Amino acid sequence: MSWYRNAVWFLKGLREYTRSGYESASKHFVPADLEVNVTGRSFMITGANSGIGKAAATEIAKRGGTLHLICRNKERAEEAKSEIITETGNQNVFLHILDMSNPKGIWEFAEKFKTEHKLNVLINNAGCMVNERELTEDGLEKNFATNTLGTYVLTTALLPLLEKEDDPRVITVSSGGMLVQKLDVSDLQSGNVTFDGTMVYAQNKRQQVVLTEQWAKVHKNIHFSVMHPGWADTPAVRSAMPEFYERMKNKLRTEAQGADTVVWLAVSPAAAKQASGLFFQDRQPVATHLPFARTYSSPEEEARLIEALEELSQRFKPT
Ligand SMILES: NC(=O)c1ccc[n+]([C@@H]2O[C@H](COP(=O)([O-])OP(=O)(O)OC[C@H]3O[C@@H](n4cnc5c(N)ncnc54)[C@H](OP(=O)(O)O)[C@@H]3O)[C@@H](O)[C@H]2O)c1
Repeated sequence: MSWYRNAVWFLKGLREYTRSGYESASKHFVPADLEVNVTGRSFMITGANSGIGKAAATEIAKRGGTLHLICRNKERAEEAKSEIITETGNQNVFLHILDMSNPKGIWEFAEKFKTEHKLNVLINNAGCMVNERELTEDGLEKNFATNTLGTYVLTTALLPLLEKEDDPRVITVSSGGMLVQKLDVSDLQSGNVTFDGTMVYAQNKRQQVVLTEQWAKVHKNIHFSVMHPGWADTPAVRSAMPEFYERMKNKLRTEAQGADTVVWLAVSPAAAKQASGLFFQDRQPVATHLPFARTYSSPEEEARLIEALEELSQRFKPT
């Protein structure tokens, strides 16, 4: 089954996820969707110093939004912040240093943020593919801690703030790679299998899709979406997938092309008219499963994911 899934997925990717896939999909875009002024609205983007996150932040800043950049490295973050300000002329760009693999730190950050700021849109973009099994200081597997638990804790902690605002949205940058994985809640820390970073990453990205669907069911007044940026030429792809990068480098999307649907989901009135909880690619809701791939999960499995994340997140919540 994994051979079948990988082959179908890769062929799909060659057609849709590449730069030419973007160019052909973009013929159907409505340019007016992004001709908006979001002055007065507040956007938080994790992993905003680089790649898709930085490109999305720049586009939102051009449209007047107030930006809260969440980055783990102060030097890289300061550089990105000043580049965004210089390029857009928007001075409302604020920096917060936070490691998304540290759940306690995320809780503390969010509690403080809530007392000082408002928030209309949260963009969960930070992500990693660590190819060796590495544990955080809390003993959590690094990919899971960053991609799944970090996303869960930050979103959960900020929901009350988002709920106070008009047209609140949560966008999570997942990956089409999740299509090769069925949700698996039996081993969230990947401690019981031969470790394969690509598959752990794909599993985390599947978890983000399920999480988004579950949030949308419960929090009706917030618009949730999850998306695939396509295959874009970013530092993460170069460093975590060097062979894929060498093979595909002439076909990859630009960072801005990868960020296009993030920006569309974050700012356009058209995106908010779509149902909450969907998975997007190139401004369209798309299927969350490959045909005949047997990746559907049961409601019980999905409930178990939420239970496990809730239990873990509470363990790190400061009292
Ligand atoms: N590029 C693609 O083809 C592609 C395809 C599918 C999905 N995605 C997803 O797109 C998102 C953005 O990735 P990208 O391709 O734009 O790569 P990128 O340029 O390397 O950006 C990843 C960002 O996440 C940050 N980050 C990673 N771990 C973090 C942590 N523990 N705490 C805080 N920030 C952390 C990175 O910070 P540092 O600079 O400090 O490392 C960086 O800012 C990711 O979720 C990725 O999975 C990308």
